[in-house]
Amino acid sequence: MTIAGDLRALEAEALAAVDATATLDALETVRVGYLGKKGSLTAVLRGLGRLSAEERPEAGRVSNEVRAALEAALEDKRGMLEAVVRESRIVAEAVDVTLPGRRRPLGRQHVLHQIVDEIVEIFAGLGYQIAEGPEVELDYYNFTALNHPPDHPARALQDTFYVRDLSGDRAVVEGESDVLLRTHTSPVQVHVMETQKPPIYVLAPGKVYRRDVADPSHLPQFTQIEGLVVDEGITFGDLKGTLEHFVHEMFGPERKVRLRPHFFPFTEPSAEVDVSCAICDGSGCRSCGGEGWLEILGCGMVDPNVFSYVGIDPERYTGFAFGMGAERIAGLKYGVPDLRLFIEGDTRFLHQF
Ligand code: DAH
Repeated sequence: MTIAGDLRALEAEALAAVDATATLDALETVRVGYLGKKGSLTAVLRGLGRLSAEERPEAGRVSNEVRAALEAALEDKRGMLEAVVRESRIVAEAVDVTLPGRRRPLGRQHVLHQIVDEIVEIFAGLGYQIAEGPEVELDYYNFTALNHPPDHPARALQDTFYVRDLSGDRAVVEGESDVLLRTHTSPVQVHVMETQKPPIYVLAPGKVYRRDVADPSHLPQFTQIEGLVVDEGITFGDLKGTLEHFVHEMFGPERKVRLRPHFFPFTEPSAEVDVSCAICDGSGCRSCGGEGWLEILGCGMVDPNVFSYVGIDPERYTGFAFGMGAERIAGLKYGVPDLRLFIEGDTRFLHQF
């Protein structure tokens, strides 16, 4: 056997091996087997130097041909195999552009925010400005300046979340105040009257806190909307007219409004406001517990004692105030029997609004 003959035999074997491969890995193994550092063709090429001067040119020429043929075959086969890989990847990753898209659930404004916005809208239409106060409040603003005597039951621990409780004497002696989570939005009245001169027409929506266990009609945190008007010549008639306007805008012009005498420390006289039941129009039915009327807010004329805390002259100015719970208004408007539904975040409930 001549060297050239050996090379041709090796070529045939290598080309067959290339032909037989089915994957790129297998092809690489074949390439290394022939053309790698320790490959069989490489070994033959290394041996060329030991040939005689007559044999060398012929062997050199043939070995170059064999190597070129093998490299070309490897290159061809690689191209083919890569095309196969690409093809199967395209099939695997195929996207069906005719499939309908996945629906993403749309968020929406929480019903309580809708209600607060609606109430703000109604009073903005009467020229009221929005006011805000802190949720962590001093006893002075939440109670004292609102004319709560020191032993008023609303100050009792079961109603109020205290942040700092100086229990009586020390607060008086050192002039410090207890710190609490406001139990109503009425303290905003005091902040407003401390910083603004009449005429005052403000609406103060915000969160309030009470040590109550959540049940169908109580929540430990809920939302109030406070109103305050201070001007010259403001009368109880202005209060009543304002609230009637509010009720008709909120619940419909056919609803009637009733004021019942009540007591609040910071208003005198005070009243609770009822709206006629939408189902029975005041005659009494199951949905209003036979009453014919549903309570919606507290109100009254600002007590002169409150004016004296904030330095407003009660001889010159009079005013009215009112406070309502947004959850209660929403519950009445939409017939929701359990206020807890408003804070549970169940989208099946919330998406109805
Ligand atoms: N702050 C009272 C409460 O939380 C509600 C209230 C009653 C507010 C009468 C007022 C008012 O402004 O005049 O029960």
